[in-house]
Amino acid sequence: MARFIDELKRTHHNGALRGANVGEEVVLFGWVASYRDHGGCVFVDLRDREGITQIVFDPNLSGHGDTPKDAYDRAQALRSEWVIGIRGVVVSRGKNVNPKLPTGEIEIHAIELGVFNKAETTPFEISDSIDTGEEKRLEYRYLDLRRAPLQRTLRVRHNINQTVRRYFDDQGFLELETPFMVKYTPGGARNFLVPSRLNQGKFYALAESPQLFKQLYMVAGFDRYFQIVKCFRDEDLRIDRQPEFTQIDVEMSFVSQDDIFAKMEGLVFTIWKTVLGIDLKEKYPSGRFPQMPFYDSMEKYGNDKPDLRFDLPHTDVTDLVIDHAGGGVPFWKDIADKFTSGQYRRDLPTEIVKAMRIPADVAGKLSRAELDKLEDFVKGMGAKGLARAKVDGTGAWTQSPLAKMIGEDLRKAFNEKIGAKEGDLLFFQFGKESVVHTVMANLRIHLAKKLGMIPDFGHGGKFEFLWVVNPPLFEYDEERKGWAAAHHAFTRPHDDCVELLDKDPGKVLCYRYDLVLNGFEIGGGSIRLHDPEVQAKVFAALGIGTEEARQKFGFLLDALKYGAPPHGGIAVGMDRLAMLLSGAESLRDVIPFPKTQRGTDLMTDAPNVVSPEQLAELRIRTVEPVKAP
Ligand code: AMO
Repeated sequence: MARFIDELKRTHHNGALRGANVGEEVVLFGWVASYRDHGGCVFVDLRDREGITQIVFDPNLSGHGDTPKDAYDRAQALRSEWVIGIRGVVVSRGKNVNPKLPTGEIEIHAIELGVFNKAETTPFEISDSIDTGEEKRLEYRYLDLRRAPLQRTLRVRHNINQTVRRYFDDQGFLELETPFMVKYTPGGARNFLVPSRLNQGKFYALAESPQLFKQLYMVAGFDRYFQIVKCFRDEDLRIDRQPEFTQIDVEMSFVSQDDIFAKMEGLVFTIWKTVLGIDLKEKYPSGRFPQMPFYDSMEKYGNDKPDLRFDLPHTDVTDLVIDHAGGGVPFWKDIADKFTSGQYRRDLPTEIVKAMRIPADVAGKLSRAELDKLEDFVKGMGAKGLARAKVDGTGAWTQSPLAKMIGEDLRKAFNEKIGAKEGDLLFFQFGKESVVHTVMANLRIHLAKKLGMIPDFGHGGKFEFLWVVNPPLFEYDEERKGWAAAHHAFTRPHDDCVELLDKDPGKVLCYRYDLVLNGFEIGGGSIRLHDPEVQAKVFAALGIGTEEARQKFGFLLDALKYGAPPHGGIAVGMDRLAMLLSGAESLRDVIPFPKTQRGTDLMTDAPNVVSPEQLAELRIRTVEPVKAP
């Protein structure tokens, strides 16, 4: 029988011992974080998930009832990351306290050493800050996870999970599961498909969210549901997107949008208090987060997830350009003419003109060369260029080709609407609405980082929450020349918009909402449509016939016929929440075993090829991958 573990049981973790423990005999287990042979005695920093304790192997120490000579002899062979157990006595370090370690007041004089396992030299050092490339760290993720920053991050996830469970349990929610292997339904994100061996030629989809099932729980009368659940989406990946990610998913019956907001605000306040020790009541004394209508957000910030840690709003000046017939600027005249001739409608996505003002006190920080580089930055997003102008003491524009073209009237009107003052820098973007919004939204963030208003990543000590509300139910699909559901076909329109469903679908607003934190969408949801009559009108506006609706959503439509309560819900992106809360740079930093940008797992080498036999069993034949031209 092995002496350590079987006979000698662990008495403490490595972060536990303090001055008060001096004199106690202890048994500790862990990894050799570092070792130093000081000729005559060996020092080891022993690490486990709770911390580090210094162990001393000294053959000359006596008075502990044993002679540690044998332990010392064997300690000389120890190397980094070996897994060991020690028995020893807690001793005060006297004047040699190490203030950097919580256990720095003491050390252990080892009496007995057991080696559980040796370790090969690790491909990178297991220490807090290393400059090893991410690929290498992902390949050996279990070693990366041994490092303190990732150990801390995963604890944050644990704390969030436990807090969520306690909170919802206290609030009367039931934690209920939903299937991962589901029927493929079109719309929404692209699904991963799973072939069925038992039903050859047929496929399951991996659930992109529990959406339909949580609605069925409401129909079944469960009233309040939550789940911490994996979701799968075959999307292009970004720093805030992973193919499998975790949602805190919620659905409630007999509630208004505001009831859902209040519950989620309660959750966020509780998480911030428990995990970060921050009382959000100081910033939001009412306990409520601010709200902003979708269209205001688009107009002021170019997207529906504005970072409110800094200002730099946009101003939409399209109407001024139309009123002044372009004001002498040829490309603006083209746009104005299209509106006045009736070719463009202001309420449809066409072309717009937007400005952004950089106030004089910060504008000076941007050198000429940096300003020129901004041009390349916006071109990378599909912009043709970036017009700019500097405002002088008289309100005239300088350092700009626009200055010579623009008539005084339009310039004055612009200055007034934009609030331009002496020394301010103005940027302009015009053209296709979606491009202008995207370019200006990204430029706003880019400049805020350049001007030091926000850090490159991380919260910088600021948490700005916002509900973005009242978006349109439909968006115009220019390819199909028709209306498409902006989110999904089961979102409830505002009651006063129902009559517009067949007359003017573009104007229909709905009960859909996003929760935004520091420029990231951390959650989204809606009040669902449970009225079959309105549902039929929505399908009609989308050009979906009865048969098509049955084919696509049959089981949900059936369920809604048997007494569906009014209901609504939301899902919070748990990984994004953990990333923002812990100030991490990417989702990969807060997910234990993440995928790369290309959707691969470098540690296990997934996805990989499977044998011809496996494919034959599924009746699947692969073809050669399409080669890039
Ligand atoms: P939605 O699609 O908005 O809503 O997703 C909810 C939240 O999940 C997070 N999220 C992601 N996080 C990481 N990687 C991804 N690929 C990813 N995609 C989404 C975001 C997002 O706000 N069923 C609805 C919710 C509802 O209506 O109740 C849904 O899934 O933080």
